[in-house]
Amino acid sequence: MSSLTPATVSKAADGPTSSASLAGRIALVSGAASGIGRAVAAGLVAAGAGVVLGDIDQEGCEKAAAELDTAGLPGRVVPVSLDVTDASAWERFIRTARRHFGYPDLLVNNAGVVGIHGLEGVSDDEWQRVIQVCQRGTWLGLRAAVPCMHLAGGGAIVNVSSVFAHVGSGAAFAYHGAKGAVAAMTRAAAVELAPARIRVNAVSPGMVETPMTSGLPEQFVTDFVAATPMGRKAAPREIAAAVLFLLSEDASFITGTDLLVDGGFAAR
Ligand SMILES: NC(=O)c1ccc[n+]([C@@H]2O[C@H](COP(=O)([O-])OP(=O)(O)OC[C@H]3O[C@@H](n4cnc5c(N)ncnc54)[C@H](O)[C@@H]3O)[C@@H](O)[C@H]2O)c1
Repeated sequence: MSSLTPATVSKAADGPTSSASLAGRIALVSGAASGIGRAVAAGLVAAGAGVVLGDIDQEGCEKAAAELDTAGLPGRVVPVSLDVTDASAWERFIRTARRHFGYPDLLVNNAGVVGIHGLEGVSDDEWQRVIQVCQRGTWLGLRAAVPCMHLAGGGAIVNVSSVFAHVGSGAAFAYHGAKGAVAAMTRAAAVELAPARIRVNAVSPGMVETPMTSGLPEQFVTDFVAATPMGRKAAPREIAAAVLFLLSEDASFITGTDLLVDGGFAAR
C-alpha cells in the first residue's frame, strides 16, 4: 500500500470508515488544469489524499497546483506535464507519483476534448483527436495505473464519461463514440479487476460550466440547458462530489456502475 498512511482499501470489511476521508491515498488526475479535473483535484486534497495533477497544459497545471498549495495544503499536490495519448508520458507520470508519495491507488481518467460535428460532418481530424484523447487516453491511463494498484493491494478508478454515452444528440458524433467506449471499458475493467480489489466506475456529466462548454456554440448550450429538467448547468464541484464518492470507501461495494450527474437530462 502507499507510503503515506495505512491501507484504506480493505477497511470496509472491518466496519464503518470515516465518511469521504481519503487520508493517505495517492491519486492521479488527468486533465487537472481546468474545469472538472481541477475541482476533483481540489476535493481529493481536501479529503487528505496526495494528488498528482497531469495535464497537457503544463502552465495551467502548475497554476492549479500552486493555488491548492496556497490554500494551506503544501506538499500534497504535484503538477506534471501529461499528454494522455502518450504511453511514455503516463510512465513518467506514474514515476513522479511513486517518487513523491508511493504507489498510486486512485485514478481519475478525466482529460477530454469535444468535437461538435454530427455523423455527416465529422472530419478524420476531429474523429482522431476526440478518440485519441477520450478513448485511447483512458485506456493508457488504466494500463499505466493498474499495476501500481496491484502493488498497493487495491484501488479505485473513476473514468469521466458523459451523458452522451447514454443518449444521442444529433451532433458530436466522435464524442458520442468515444464516451460510449469509455462506458464499455469501465464495465470491462470493473469485472476484470474486482478480484484484485480494484473498483472501476464512471461518472457521466450533463452540461457543466467549464472552459470546454464555454467554447461550444451558444445555441447548442442554450438548447441543452432547456432540455435539462433542472434547467441549469452543473458546477464542476457537483461532478467532483460524485467522483469523490465513487473513489471513497462509502462506495466500497460499487463497481462497474456509471453515475449520471446530468440534472435529469437522460431521464426525459
Ligand atoms: N463540461 C461538460 O459539460 C462535460 C460534460 C460531460 C463530460 N465532460 C467530460 O469531463 C471531462 C473534463 O472536461 P471539462 O469540462 O472539465 O473540460 P476542460 O476543457 O475544462 O478540461 C479538460 C482538461 O483536459 C486537458 N486535456 C486535453 N487534452 C489533453 C491531453 N491530450 N492530455 C492531457 N490533458 C488534456 C485540457 O488541457 C484541460 O485542462 C472531459 O472528459 C469531458 O469530456 C464534460
